[in-house]
Amino acid sequence: MADRPVILAVDVGTSGTKVLAVDASGRVLHATQSTHACEHPRPGWAEQDPEQWHQGTLDALKSLLGTGVVAAEDVVAIGLAGQMHGLVALDEAREVVRPAILWNDQRSSPQCDRCTEALGRTFLLEHTGNLMLPGFTVPKLLWMREHEPDRFESIRHVLLPKDYVRFRLGSRLVTDVSDASGTGVFDCGRRDWSTAMLEALELPADWWPRAGESVEVVDHLGAGAARATGLLEGTPLVAGAGDQAASGVGNGITREGLVSATIGTSGVVFASSDDWRYPEDGSLHAFCHAIPDTWHLMGVMLSAGGSFDWFCRSLMPDVMERGRSEGRDPFEVVTEGAGRIEPGADGLVFLPYLSGERTPHVDPDARGGFVGLTPRHGRDHLARAVIEGAIFGLGDCLELVTRMGIRPDSVRLSGGAAASPLWRSICADVFGCPTVETTTREGTAYGAAILAGTGVGLWPDVPTACEAVVRETRRVEPSGDRERYRMLHRRFAALYPALRPWWSRPEGLE
Ligand code: XUL
Repeated sequence: MADRPVILAVDVGTSGTKVLAVDASGRVLHATQSTHACEHPRPGWAEQDPEQWHQGTLDALKSLLGTGVVAAEDVVAIGLAGQMHGLVALDEAREVVRPAILWNDQRSSPQCDRCTEALGRTFLLEHTGNLMLPGFTVPKLLWMREHEPDRFESIRHVLLPKDYVRFRLGSRLVTDVSDASGTGVFDCGRRDWSTAMLEALELPADWWPRAGESVEVVDHLGAGAARATGLLEGTPLVAGAGDQAASGVGNGITREGLVSATIGTSGVVFASSDDWRYPEDGSLHAFCHAIPDTWHLMGVMLSAGGSFDWFCRSLMPDVMERGRSEGRDPFEVVTEGAGRIEPGADGLVFLPYLSGERTPHVDPDARGGFVGLTPRHGRDHLARAVIEGAIFGLGDCLELVTRMGIRPDSVRLSGGAAASPLWRSICADVFGCPTVETTTREGTAYGAAILAGTGVGLWPDVPTACEAVVRETRRVEPSGDRERYRMLHRRFAALYPALRPWWSRPEGLE
């Protein structure tokens, strides 16, 4: 092993690829990023050219090596994490058949409905632990079979985004159990592909790559990628994980009882589980964790920070501009205004379902809204309501997790909004337990680095690695507003069922 071993981690995200260099003490030596474009050929569609991910990864690795911070001979492993669920279809020559269809593409909603009708929710849950959702990989294949039969006929292999990047860095077609969990045809309980699902959907079993554990060394850097980046040929490539499981590792969520809430565009409540279990109504995702013999439950809100981002850009451009001109974070300036308003925003409630919802309501047709407006309300009230609505949504996800018997003593917060004292304290009041931050910043890529380092023996296992390098920092206890927020949360929760008929059957109201 090198004298100063360094791990590189690649996070293939939706807006760009990040590369992180981490040393054996867990210190981040360098971070670099390349951006990718996302195409929306029709409303609700989202596609990317996998070649962009490959080039973006090579560019980011080359620029990292170019800084001189890391020497190629010190790099002991490369780990990967990435956007989950995306469909990368390859032909006989292992060329991509069409642009990748991404996790946030909604086109396969009819295929999901038909699949659920034909097989039944019980069959889906028994064989995968999850319902069939348009975000998942397999409904996208079913869409191709119906709408692009020629391209579908040429498919011989299916990969997930980070696995395509690893394949181009090395040569093998492999995935890992955490990412495979989001395809819709993976038996998460057995940690293997579900032959029952593949047979029921008439999809060939040999299209699917071997699913290893996330800490396995599954390939080695090839000569071409070594030349293009300045790294050494033969550098071990570790299987890695889907972005959520990697971020769970990055936040140190390694055993039952530890739970995180990540507020980015989406909002994710992530709980480690020592046994295989899934909710009978499919209200949470139940996936393999990136740690062997461990699973995780996950609630995904599609628009948590996204709601606040929309609000700030659409209704607060002047306030944001003022913040920028004062050299401040513009979102913080809007949050400051919200902080001047009492809990409950004077009766105003915001529903954060701008992009439909996954958890707690599996409902692509759900919509956002303000309810309870009066002439007394100003923009700061709206800001407060948006923040509270996003956090109530996370609280709903957490409640589903606790119903599965997982009761955290505290919740680890991460993502952009976790930096704000107001968001942190409302989270503690709504969750009814302390929130804590960790030393981790680049959660997903950092998790991939921990997995890769464990894979090559820098740490004996993932929990030991996390104990060594992920530390809890700021802790916020619930305040005297806890009881008030309990009542406000109940009022919020009553709105979705009341409004659902309005957006799910608009024609019935005409
Ligand atoms: C997880 C999910 C997203 C994507 C993109 O279920 O849909 O986290 O992986 O980040």
